Amino acid sequence: MYQMLDSVLKSCETAWIKTKTKKNHPFRFFSLVTTSPEGQAEARMVVLRKFDVSNFEFTIYTDLRTPKMASIVHNPEVELLFYDHKKLWQIRVKAKCIAQREDPALFAQQQEAAQKDYTTLIAPGTEIKAMDAVEYGSKNHFVVLTFRAYHIDHLQLKRPNHQRAIFTLQGQEWKGSFVTP
Ligand SMILES: Cc1cc2nc3c(=O)[nH]c(=O)nc-3n(C[C@H](O)[C@H](O)[C@H](O)COP(=O)(O)O)c2cc1C
Repeated sequence: MYQMLDSVLKSCETAWIKTKTKKNHPFRFFSLVTTSPEGQAEARMVVLRKFDVSNFEFTIYTDLRTPKMASIVHNPEVELLFYDHKKLWQIRVKAKCIAQREDPALFAQQQEAAQKDYTTLIAPGTEIKAMDAVEYGSKNHFVVLTFRAYHIDHLQLKRPNHQRAIFTLQGQEWKGSFVTP
């Protein structure tokens, strides 16, 4: 790949890698966009738990009972949206959910407060009587989801011109091109 394109893709990789050690990195949180079985777009924030640079795989944790799970099972094609507001840097990633697994050992490693998030008595999104009337049970619904990227759209806002490059996975190789921002 053309040298400059290569360095753009490298800068994306480096930023995602940094989220592992830099907990306040802006790319640690991203918007995961799915499509509901009715065809409606659904966006929500999630935490990037792991980035596998060799396969461009992004891992998150969720509750098996959340509506996003039904959407992903119905349609594994998703978009991941990353934004660094200080750098005015946006990355849109088209990806496919390639794995959904329960992981009791990983669940056991989570902080107690974090574990609680996956143990509500009734499913997330279900009506309750009051804001704080959340009840917890002993069963966990922890699930690990992994998304593999196949299209990356980098946009850097800057003067005199914004810079945009797109990358598509072709076989094992990323093919990049510059596009009008
Ligand atoms: C900062 C932030 C981080 C979040 N991280 C996660 C996460 O890692 N996993 C998750 O399932 N929900 C996370 N949520 C909650 C989701 O945004 C969403 O409200 C919830 O998962 C229900 O989504 P659904 O109804 O579309 O399935 C986070 C919310 C915020 C505000």
